[in-house]
Amino acid sequence: MKIEVAKYAGFCFGVKRAVQLAFETARDSRNPVYTLGPIIHNPEVVAELERRGVKAVADPRGIRAGTVIIRSHGVHPDVIAALQKRGLRIIDATCPFVTKAQRAAAELRDEGRQVIIVGEPHHPEVVALKGYAGPDSVIFNDQPVPIKPRIGVLSQTTVSEDDFVTALLAFGKRATDIHIFNTICNATQIRQRETMELAKRSDVMIVVGGRNSANTSRLAELCKKVGKPTRSVETERELRAAWFKGACKVGVTAGASTPAATVRRVVKRIRELTNTNAGDRERRRSFDRLPNH
Ligand code: F3S
Repeated sequence: MKIEVAKYAGFCFGVKRAVQLAFETARDSRNPVYTLGPIIHNPEVVAELERRGVKAVADPRGIRAGTVIIRSHGVHPDVIAALQKRGLRIIDATCPFVTKAQRAAAELRDEGRQVIIVGEPHHPEVVALKGYAGPDSVIFNDQPVPIKPRIGVLSQTTVSEDDFVTALLAFGKRATDIHIFNTICNATQIRQRETMELAKRSDVMIVVGGRNSANTSRLAELCKKVGKPTRSVETERELRAAWFKGACKVGVTAGASTPAATVRRVVKRIRELTNTNAGDRERRRSFDRLPNH
């Protein structure tokens, strides 16, 4: 049986950077270290950071002293201002692509436009973006929203190109003056496209990642969409030999918040369960492409 690991499985650039900053801060700090919400949607990484003294808190108001790490989604500017006012040290791990979207939102607001954000209303990145987009900004998911004649449009970094184009077509009929910023990060698109291609040439797909990770769940949905039996696991301990019965080829992919070490352990366990050797050149090549974290 062959095992092929997706080339883009695991951490994206922004998540990798945020996790590295969190581990470095834990190593170098003598004072308490906090993250506003879990640094990534991966319980293993969050637990490891906690063992090293980094605590995830939902509400920053309880933090009296120490260092606060801003995760890759970014936060509302009011939160930053409140942390600064209390004299807390801030490590900004906002993904540079998200920062670019925040700057674009502020630019559109300063042009006097109503800013439309295409994205999930409760996603932390969108909540933060709205803070830069001004009080009359609106979030477009799939429901109609009130639109002024002069607008600026951008999106959550992880929306699909199709959804963004659909939104633009809807606004195009109503606004007379539109300034568009393309703030989509293609890491998500590339991973999703690659996952679908891998699913097409596999008999079984294994999707590795936290159950609370939206982008991991989306990968599993896409695999099912191409009609392939798909199993989602957080760790190798959940794998079962019966899932691979009769399969000639297993595809493995992982969400943006899944460490490469977890993917490696999953592949190793699949090999054990299926008595598959690691000698095949193709398999080794795709496996070795995984970056180290
Ligand atoms: Fe950044 Fe794109 Fe990842 S916006 S956090 S590199 S999905």
